[in-house]
Amino acid sequence: MNGQTQCIRPADTAALRDAADLLLAGKLVAFPTETVYGLGANALNGEAVAGIFAAKNRPKFNPLIVHVADLSQARSFGNFNDHAVELARAFWPGPITLVVPKSKTCKVCDIAMAGLNTIALRIPGGLIAQELLRVAGIPIAAPSANRSGHISATVACHVAADLGMRVSMVLDDGPTVIGIESTIISCQDDAPRLLRAGAIERSQIEKVIGQDLLTNNTTRISAPGQLTSHYAPNAILRINATQRQKDDVFIAFGTPPLGSAPEFNLSPSGDIIEAAANLFSVLRQIDLLGAQNAAIMPIPHHGIGEAINDRLNRASAQRA
Ligand code: TXA
Ligand code: MG
Repeated sequence: MNGQTQCIRPADTAALRDAADLLLAGKLVAFPTETVYGLGANALNGEAVAGIFAAKNRPKFNPLIVHVADLSQARSFGNFNDHAVELARAFWPGPITLVVPKSKTCKVCDIAMAGLNTIALRIPGGLIAQELLRVAGIPIAAPSANRSGHISATVACHVAADLGMRVSMVLDDGPTVIGIESTIISCQDDAPRLLRAGAIERSQIEKVIGQDLLTNNTTRISAPGQLTSHYAPNAILRINATQRQKDDVFIAFGTPPLGSAPEFNLSPSGDIIEAAANLFSVLRQIDLLGAQNAAIMPIPHHGIGEAINDRLNRASAQRA
């Protein structure tokens, strides 16, 4: 590993082995999941997990998702009620995170949960993430691999740009397939609650649980992806824009307004899934252009559009 540049390696067998060894030695490793890149540490090692908070400059009150290899490991860390079991069986491995009460036998370090008596668990769908979990043989605590409050990383070089030398290795498997984070569901009571809209859409979840999904409507932050300003580019972002204004960098979705000459189009064919996959990368490119102002066309609210609009609302929110 070069002392100056941080180590981005194609995620082959040797790199996976080295990444697993680094994790076991208490180091931080970034790795691709099917949603976004995660910044991983051994979830059983408090010192290693503390390193995640330092590397991201993440507030200590903001708990992490613990990635696990299988349902039995998940159930050793958390108490699953019937709805949690239904959701795990329907969507794992995959882009849904379940928040459940921490079990008595839970060995995950307290700092990963930010001292809460609940734990967020996910079996990732991406093959590299699964292989890393298998080879390392430990649960991996991993938030998105970006500076706290910044845009999640969907390619390895975005991780490097945000975290630099603070991560020992980045496993590179190209752009993540989905491009937007997992859906987070709290299964603490009989009625599951949506804490963060994400890759699995509301209607799919409601079909499985056979009831409406409650939505977090308290002002209490139970998933700080719910912080009002988050996922934010440096540029001031105007959402639901129907016209380009002078000095805007313009982001289209589908057919752009006549004469608007957009710099970016999240999906020329108006495909919401393609738009999700391109969103974070386009938000980062706005900053690379040095734009002060950007505007984005309305995104339909159906399907994964709910998650896209959630991220855009936060990306465009007043900064603290
Ligand atoms: O797709 C994803 O979910 C990615 C990949 C890497 O798995 N991870 C991710 O992590 O987006 P992060 O830390 O950026 O977002 C996790 C969210 C945070 O908003 C955190 O507050 C919430 O999960 N969370 C974690 N534990 C929680 C808990 N016990 N109760 C409520 N929210 C929790
Ligand atoms: Mg994040």
